[in-house]
Amino acid sequence: MYTKILGTGSYFPEKVLTNKDLEQMVDTTDEWITTRTGIKERRISVDEPTSVLGMKAAEKAIEMAQIDKNEISGIIVATFTPDTTMPSTACVIQNLLGIQNNSFAFDLAAACTGFIYALSVADSMIKSGIADKILLIGAERISPNVDWTDRNTCVLFGDGAGAVVLGKSKEPGFRSFHIHADGSANRLLTLDTLGSNFMANRKNMNIEENLIKMKGNEVFKIAVRAMAEATAKAVESSGLKYEEVDFFIPHQANLRIIDAAAKRINLTYEKVIITLDKFGNTSSATIPTALDIAVRDGRIKRGSNIVSAAFGGGLTWGSTLFTF
Ligand code: ACO
Repeated sequence: MYTKILGTGSYFPEKVLTNKDLEQMVDTTDEWITTRTGIKERRISVDEPTSVLGMKAAEKAIEMAQIDKNEISGIIVATFTPDTTMPSTACVIQNLLGIQNNSFAFDLAAACTGFIYALSVADSMIKSGIADKILLIGAERISPNVDWTDRNTCVLFGDGAGAVVLGKSKEPGFRSFHIHADGSANRLLTLDTLGSNFMANRKNMNIEENLIKMKGNEVFKIAVRAMAEATAKAVESSGLKYEEVDFFIPHQANLRIIDAAAKRINLTYEKVIITLDKFGNTSSATIPTALDIAVRDGRIKRGSNIVSAAFGGGLTWGSTLFTF
């Protein structure tokens, strides 16, 4: 018995923020951002919370899966930018979708690796019989957590959401998972505001100084190695050969990190799904949105073998190989 993707969906807010717009905000250039990251523009949510971004992606995934929403036995939302610490964004989305079957609902926090972590949890829940169909969403409204005066981070992130509906199948679906963390590097990439440490010291803390912070080049070095190794491991433990991989869907943080991982498994450029030029780094939403875009434009078809890998705050990283 396997877990398979029954439907995919994605949603991005309308407002586009280009590299040229950023040139007016911080000391940067379109040329620097393009050559160092591959990003040209990103989307910004003006007034839609993470839950609404996620709900809109979920509606499309449910429609493609051709199921009744009340068949869903549980909702998992991978996010590091929930609407609120409590309730979970998954509970809010259950209500927005009008699901009234008391399905379970919870958020999962693993930063940019959140979607891969959540896939592995959902796969285990379906295989063990705890759940029949799971709605899995990667949704992020990162922009309110960005320091728009810090050129090291503000050029990287964007808002958006992707979703999949997962169910049982006799045909191969997910074939391998690897998930990892190195907590000793937990201060390399941080968002301290509204955590309980921040709230306990809030009289002495300044929100503006505790927005997203990243030691970019230190994260970069670890990310290149971890992504490449995780990608290779996903293929090698899947039972498939390298040449049987049809597509690579990497987390979209930096084109140079993606290139290094693709080279490690000898994949040519047309087999790599790239969306960061248009949407930047949307953290846990990059993989499900890229998947949905490539399914809907016809590149990914039923039977396509896909390797996916991610890397992010924690530090966390992971990979999977699945047949769509
Ligand atoms: N415009 C112009 N110059 C800039 C900018 C900018 N936007 N940002 C930084 N610089 C400057 C720096 O100040 C530095 O100048 P200096 O040499 O005078 O000090 C110079 O460019 C080089 O800076 P680096 O940080 O070394 O640049 P690097 O080539 O490493 O690129 C980047 C930075 C794009 C952030 C890269 O390090 C990266 O992609 N890191 C990994 C990101 C990642 O994978 N994060 C994990 C996922 S995110 C998540 O989990 C939420």
